[in-house]
Amino acid sequence: MVASSELVRMEGIDKSFPGVHALDGCRFDLRAGEVHALCGENGAGKSTLMKVLAGIYPKDAGRILLKEVEVEIPTPRAARDLGISIIHQELSLMRHLTVAQNIFIGREPRTGPLRVMLDERSINRQTQDLLDRLNIRLHARTRVGDLTVAAQQMVEIARALSLNTEVLIMDEPTATLTNAEIDALFQIIRQLREHGVGIVHISHRLEELRQIADRVTVMRDGRYVATVGAADTPIQQIISMMVGGRTLYEATPEIPQDGNREVVLEVRHLTSPPLVRDVSFELRRGEILGFAGLVGAGRTEVARAVFGADPVSSGEVLLDGKKLTIHSPSDAVQHGIAYLSEDRKRYGLALDLDLETNTVLAAFAKFLGPLGWVLPERVRATAVARVGELAIKTPSTKQKVKNLSGGNQQKVVLSKWLTADARVFIFDEPTRGIDIGAKSEIYRLLNDLAAQGKAIIMISSDLPEVLRMSHRILVMCEGRITGELGAGEATQEAIMQYATERVAQAEVA
Ligand SMILES: Nc1ncnc2c1ncn2[C@@H]1O[C@H](COP(=O)(O)OP(=O)(O)OP(=O)(O)O)[C@@H](O)[C@H]1O
Ligand SMILES: [Mg+2]
Repeated sequence: MVASSELVRMEGIDKSFPGVHALDGCRFDLRAGEVHALCGENGAGKSTLMKVLAGIYPKDAGRILLKEVEVEIPTPRAARDLGISIIHQELSLMRHLTVAQNIFIGREPRTGPLRVMLDERSINRQTQDLLDRLNIRLHARTRVGDLTVAAQQMVEIARALSLNTEVLIMDEPTATLTNAEIDALFQIIRQLREHGVGIVHISHRLEELRQIADRVTVMRDGRYVATVGAADTPIQQIISMMVGGRTLYEATPEIPQDGNREVVLEVRHLTSPPLVRDVSFELRRGEILGFAGLVGAGRTEVARAVFGADPVSSGEVLLDGKKLTIHSPSDAVQHGIAYLSEDRKRYGLALDLDLETNTVLAAFAKFLGPLGWVLPERVRATAVARVGELAIKTPSTKQKVKNLSGGNQQKVVLSKWLTADARVFIFDEPTRGIDIGAKSEIYRLLNDLAAQGKAIIMISSDLPEVLRMSHRILVMCEGRITGELGAGEATQEAIMQYATERVAQAEVA
């Protein structure tokens, strides 16, 4: 690292939305060749501040200097021209296009006598060069829809860098990645840092700060709190700056599971091509059953098959010993099975409706009066309680969900399912993108559900979380269950062993 010259300086940035003072006199600066982490609880204003820098939101007040010259950044296009690229919290690639087409979208070189034909050869060649230079092992011609989330992330980075980016903003790039994938991403980030790119890294995984960040800026309630060196600041101190003196709830130790509770859900030889192969397991009353494995191991697909969201080619699902016929998610809900999906945008929320309505969406019957009218007081009271428990940051329970920050949307998905009247709960990555304060509150609510005798499946890529919360852990690899571990015997190493095991039997047979 040579340079430490200033790339960006933001001062006195103000931004309001109706009812929300999202940024209040905020500041931030970024040097060439550094990774600057931006931390803060859900709704603190991290994404908004970076969207101002990327020309997505106009600021109400304040100044932005680029290499010490004041600039206006009215549009994303203007940001790009200034060398500023942002990778959003939600990925934004076109799934039906190839890697190369995505990278060159909107600025494709043309060929042919009238220069109207897309020059595929040239974009494929240029893309392959770029990928090779970045040591990203992908093919320019692969369809993006066929890539893992991690690989799509890499494509986003390659696209940003093809634009001669000097300032690269990554909004929670690691939320959906496994440890190995995060290592690969960090490798690339270090390479970029060597080349003098300034990188803004937003993440709720505080253990990453030590690994990758040079400096850390903490925000709270739309305000700047402090900027500190990552190497010489204890994580605990960063957490207290984030939460501002509030003491965090310590999740209660999990209730011990006694072995002779009755089986609620039984899955026998479930197969749902291509990713679920001959999966069998039992789930008991009051049990939290963890599902561990690498992204792509088939855990979500098992959940979707049980929930009726994907077709099942063979095998059966039994509830209380009775065989179920589930053709669709609404059949599953009828039987008391709730599924919190990892993809909140597509399956979890009615984004145009308000927080109240979303909270009761999966349990409407509980909120009807004797004449079949919705009881608005009961709806509001429940929503207000959830907002308090999960510390959802919103001006009111009438706020449209699409206006909430990423993590607060995730909290609304959770409150919806925690309110649901179900017996079997499947939680798929329940704490992804959730700040540290709310996480422990979610653990407490899961423990409460278990204590009430609900049966819970928790899919999570966060190994410490699986270890802390599960009575029993199943590990999947390539569509099969490769191991089962009791709470006492499970370790991160044991899980990783099973998670990376090629299924030997299948290969011998
Ligand atoms: N388009 C919008 N309309 C109304 N309010 C908004 C809009 N975008 C953001 N907000 C509000 O601004 C505040 C800051 O949101 P922001 O998305 O910047 O938070 P964040 O720090 O990125 O949180 P997270 O960790 O959950 O992603 C929140 O209270 C949010 O509800
Ligand atoms: Mg955000």
